[in-house]
Amino acid sequence: MKRNIIITGGAGFIGSHVVRLFVNKYPDYRIICVDKLTYAGNLANLADVEDKPNYAFVKADICDYDLMCRLMREYEVDSIIHLAAESHVDRSIKDPFTFARTNVMGTLSLLQAAKVYWESLPEKYEGKLFYHISTDEVYGALELTCPEGRKDEVSAHEVYGDEFFVETTKYNPHSPYSASKASSDHFVRAYHDTYGMPTLVTNCSNNYGPYQFPEKLIPLFINNIRHRKPLPVYGKGENVRDWLFVEDHARAIDLIFHRGNVAETYNIGGFNEWKNIDIIKVIINTVDRLLGRKEGEDLDLITFVTDRAGHDLRYAIDSRKLKNELGWEPSLQFEEGIERTVRWYLDNQEWMDRITSGEYEKYYESMYKNR
Ligand code: NAD
Ligand code: TYD
Repeated sequence: MKRNIIITGGAGFIGSHVVRLFVNKYPDYRIICVDKLTYAGNLANLADVEDKPNYAFVKADICDYDLMCRLMREYEVDSIIHLAAESHVDRSIKDPFTFARTNVMGTLSLLQAAKVYWESLPEKYEGKLFYHISTDEVYGALELTCPEGRKDEVSAHEVYGDEFFVETTKYNPHSPYSASKASSDHFVRAYHDTYGMPTLVTNCSNNYGPYQFPEKLIPLFINNIRHRKPLPVYGKGENVRDWLFVEDHARAIDLIFHRGNVAETYNIGGFNEWKNIDIIKVIINTVDRLLGRKEGEDLDLITFVTDRAGHDLRYAIDSRKLKNELGWEPSLQFEEGIERTVRWYLDNQEWMDRITSGEYEKYYESMYKNR
């Protein structure tokens, strides 16, 4: 094998797209998916690659340092693409410790396991890479200076403010989730600066697409509309998110893994800002149309509920560095991406039903009963 790559969190939403892309595109790379299979991890997300000869799955907790050291040696790992994390802001508000454990201590455990193994080799860090996947949420929140939206001359898309997150934007996380991701980013950079480990960090905007756990806005709402359940819109639905189709994120990761400069940070985003209430209306119309209902018939499912504590107002990524230096651009228009996404969830009801039976119901009720 030309490379032995651990992809952590590969059974989750984004990780499963990255694993699929690498396993199929690079038959001469061995891809070792390391995942604890928490509530968010699902081997069904990887069913189409599980029999490939260049793929291996290891059920493991990244916080288990001894096991991480063993995996590094056993598989002679030369690269890590690190996606494993607790990823849902609402859960982090209820249970911050789990986020500190996995996102901070788990990342540290992996970094140290990689350091010890790579430093034991004659060539040391040559040909090695620790690639850490992070989020735009570490930068904090942007102002909504154009609440009605305006066309932006740079991006030629609708924007809701004058500022954007760039790679040098100061970290200012607000939620326990983003605080834990910020901390892990700092540790990754510290391993480069202190020990000379070749590291890379990318900060991406909100992803959408197939295989996302239905606690996040888009799959949750698609499923609720299908079953005609209320759609809990936090606050007034005015918050703005910058949405990127997950396969475009996976393509960016592939490109940056192979051609990104060590120790650099790249922001990844689609220049695709939407107010929550507007994207929700698009989702309702799309689900209604694809289910043969009258478009807009389910708009009355919208239910305004108590806002999320510390709810960041606006995220907007400036990804021009990635475009200018490595030539990456999103391949999919949002209209096409959302149509493909809604169609996928409606066509894969069994996948959804498996996840949303049992424990999920209890969790969902506990999350929403107080709103
Ligand atoms: P996800 O919650 O869907 O998947 C996370 C995966 O990590 C799951 O398979 C889970 O089982 C695994 N995991 C959790 N704790 C673990 C542990 N202790 N040991 C091993 N595995 C563990 O998350 P996602 O949305 O796919 O996000 C993946 C990464 O991308 C995260 O690091 C997240 O911060 C980042 N990110 C996500 C988004 C987004 O919009 N979803 C945007 C930018 C960045
Ligand atoms: P989410 O998908 O949880 O991603 P993030 O918080 O990481 O951006 O939420 C996207 C936006 O949708 C966010 O502004 C919160 C809002 N939201 C709701 O209004 N209702 C919901 O039930 C959920 C899950 C999110």
